[in-house]
Amino acid sequence: MGTYTIALLPGDGIGPEVITEAVKVLEVVGDSFGHTFRFSEGLIGGRAVDATGFPLPPETLDLCRGADAVLLGAVGGPKWDGLPSAQRPETGLLDLRKNLRVYANLRPVVAYPSLVEASPLRPEVVSGTDFLIVRELTGGLYFGKPKERTQRNGQRQAVDTLIYTEEEIGRVVHLAFGLAAQRRKLVTSVDKANVLESSRLWREVVNEVAKGYPEVRLEHMLVDACAMEMVRRPTRFDVIVTENMFGDILSDEGAGVVGSIGLLPSASLGASPPALYEPVHGSAPDIAGQGIANPLGAILSVALLLRHSCNLEAEARAVEEAVAYVLSAGYRTRDLLPPVGAGEYKVVSTSQMGDMVAHALKENVPRKT
Ligand code: IPM
Ligand code: MG
Repeated sequence: MGTYTIALLPGDGIGPEVITEAVKVLEVVGDSFGHTFRFSEGLIGGRAVDATGFPLPPETLDLCRGADAVLLGAVGGPKWDGLPSAQRPETGLLDLRKNLRVYANLRPVVAYPSLVEASPLRPEVVSGTDFLIVRELTGGLYFGKPKERTQRNGQRQAVDTLIYTEEEIGRVVHLAFGLAAQRRKLVTSVDKANVLESSRLWREVVNEVAKGYPEVRLEHMLVDACAMEMVRRPTRFDVIVTENMFGDILSDEGAGVVGSIGLLPSASLGASPPALYEPVHGSAPDIAGQGIANPLGAILSVALLLRHSCNLEAEARAVEEAVAYVLSAGYRTRDLLPPVGAGEYKVVSTSQMGDMVAHALKENVPRKT
């Protein structure tokens, strides 16, 4: 029976809507399994800029540092797109990741049997897809310096820097191998070593780390080839480990493969707590406030939080099974409807979907059926 402090950062757009449902589910976990979750809420992103002038106010960072885990919704929106980079909502998120030193971002990509029709791929291609993208999160192009706009010979020019140290590569690759050892024991390291110096170092370090995991098979794959393989044969992957920008792009592709980005959760882990949990989807300003957003990415992020920050594996599984059950019972938010044709589905709102999962969890429906 544990007590856990959770910092909630709902953020912008659909963030608050999906976090409300995630909290609903976490409260049921508390009641059903006898744990106490204490919530404290902070500002981040555009709403933080509006209220304080900063996308990551110092109070928010303090709140997170004092928590066992951080659960974030999403940041950003057209309202703040014109702001200078220091005030962009996204900068708040990047600063949070950097300050919490959560260098490894885990993004599981799973095709639920009842959802194969939501995928644009043929059922026989997508069925059985179950891989984990381990994305380096605090280095590379996102953070390298110089990163600026300058003027040269009367022309505007801009630079971003792709830089990695062997330490930054080694720690995330270790983590990926450790996870692969508990799964199907295949690591696909993705780079662009035929062109980029940073990728050649990446590959070298990966080969060195691999020696410590003789039971895990390693393959290297160029990022362009990986993008193609992911739609051709998604079931061939187990753990994909890659640098920050490639991981950002490939994880959206993975979401497309299994049907909707609204489904994907993520966990960002560092050497010490707190870890950060967020759905992979963004703030989706176009559908914000309409009650139609898919809360499952946020709810499944709660499962990852229970597993990685609270060491509550049974509780994590119970949440995942409740989600799988609700999907198998035919309930869908709009994003989960098949891209072509219509089946026999019950279309539900954001809060109804949260209620369905909470109910399935409370009544332990998956175990009884
Ligand atoms: C993600 C998002 C973020 C990223 C944005 C919002 C800064 O796309 O988490 O994948 O690029 O990391
Ligand atoms: Mg992204």
